[in-house]
Amino acid sequence: MSPAALTAVSPTRSAASNNDVVVSVRGLTKVFKDFWGRPKALAVDNVDFDVRRGEVFGLLGPNGSGKSTTVKLILGLLHPTKGFIEVFGHSPRHVATKERIGYLPEESYLYRYLNSRETLEFFGNLFELPKDDRRKRAEQLLEMVGLSQVHLRSVGEFSKGMQRRIGLAQALINDPDLVILDEPTSGLDPIGCREVKDLILALARRGKTVILSSHLLADVEDVCDRVVIYYGGRIQAMGPLRELLANPDAIQITTPALPRETMERVLQIIRQDVAADKVRVDTPTQNLETYFLDVVQKARQAAAETSGATSGARVAAYLRGEAEPAPTPDRILERLTAPPPKPVEAAPPAPAPAETAAQAKLEALTRPEPPAPAPAPAPAAEPARQAELEKANEKLAALLGKPRS
Ligand SMILES: Nc1ncnc2c1ncn2[C@@H]1O[C@H](COP(=O)(O)OP(=O)(O)OP(=O)(O)O)[C@@H](O)[C@H]1O
Ligand SMILES: [Mg+2]
Repeated sequence: MSPAALTAVSPTRSAASNNDVVVSVRGLTKVFKDFWGRPKALAVDNVDFDVRRGEVFGLLGPNGSGKSTTVKLILGLLHPTKGFIEVFGHSPRHVATKERIGYLPEESYLYRYLNSRETLEFFGNLFELPKDDRRKRAEQLLEMVGLSQVHLRSVGEFSKGMQRRIGLAQALINDPDLVILDEPTSGLDPIGCREVKDLILALARRGKTVILSSHLLADVEDVCDRVVIYYGGRIQAMGPLRELLANPDAIQITTPALPRETMERVLQIIRQDVAADKVRVDTPTQNLETYFLDVVQKARQAAAETSGATSGARVAAYLRGEAEPAPTPDRILERLTAPPPKPVEAAPPAPAPAETAAQAKLEALTRPEPPAPAPAPAPAAEPARQAELEKANEKLAALLGKPRS
């Protein structure tokens, strides 16, 4: 029997964490103009909001209401026509600011001939992550998004949902402090949606800030602390989700099923204060997502095979801020018999939730490396993929303004 539950309002994560403002937007306006400079579309119209550290902030609105334009303005990909934006206290175009942001665009832009591991390594390289970190993170992320089994397939062959998953992994390779996800669950199956939501919650627990644009209201409801609702580029409603959705004129009491006589006694007492037609008694139902996940879980236990994405693993260890898992006795033996690469002073402590990205990177660099299993030999790259890799590396070298390594 489930325990009786009264709907209780607990403080949102944003209220519980400190009130550092990560993104500040004032009077933000974006007018798209045609070739002759004539206004074509007023995409964002005089918008004000703040997003605080550790908060999951939702941008909602119907198609064409200005969500993606707002996201691109926050990222510095578009210039505002009017207004002011600050991200981590700087202009969105500030280079150091960009390093702290992870972005999942509305459409995936991927090099179609790279496989998923190469894709993640490529983006890790853009952030100048050390090789070992890149490898480790790519592995954890592929596991997390359920693509480990297909990591040698070109991303161009991926289904829409699989592309979304690799896009999500790519957005997290730099362990960003601010994660901006534009329609992250679009094209994902319900398992993928649940995993993305769990990931968002895990990121928020680590003090990361998440801005999420979506018109899938159920997803938003499950994860967002605060939302804005756009229509025609303007904010129509804004506030903590619990406050926006609460109905202060009604209460709900949930208990295990009660004997008929008890119910009658309770209703009799209630009817002394409230008209009989205002009282409703019903049985709570589980939502479709929970039911669906349960059905799939049972099917999985029956070990059905699939050529698509598998269900992802737990949130990548480095994103949860966890140290490496404790070595098994076999690994300890291996480590003892292997020549030590460098003296190790002490086991790394688990990072505190408020650690900075720099500390995390530093720790990752200084963390003793457990001996990894020998990597599988890379398959001979096809000429097209080789050419794509070359092209990607050239772009990278151009972007970084330095010769290729
Ligand atoms: N590059 C562009 N040039 C001209 N108009 C644009 C451009 N990008 C967006 N717009 C217009 O700005 C408005 C807002 O578009 P935006 O992409 O921000 O909407 P959205 O809320 O993200 O919609 P959706 O839910 O469909 O993704 C729309 O009218 C759109 O046509
Ligand atoms: Mg959009």
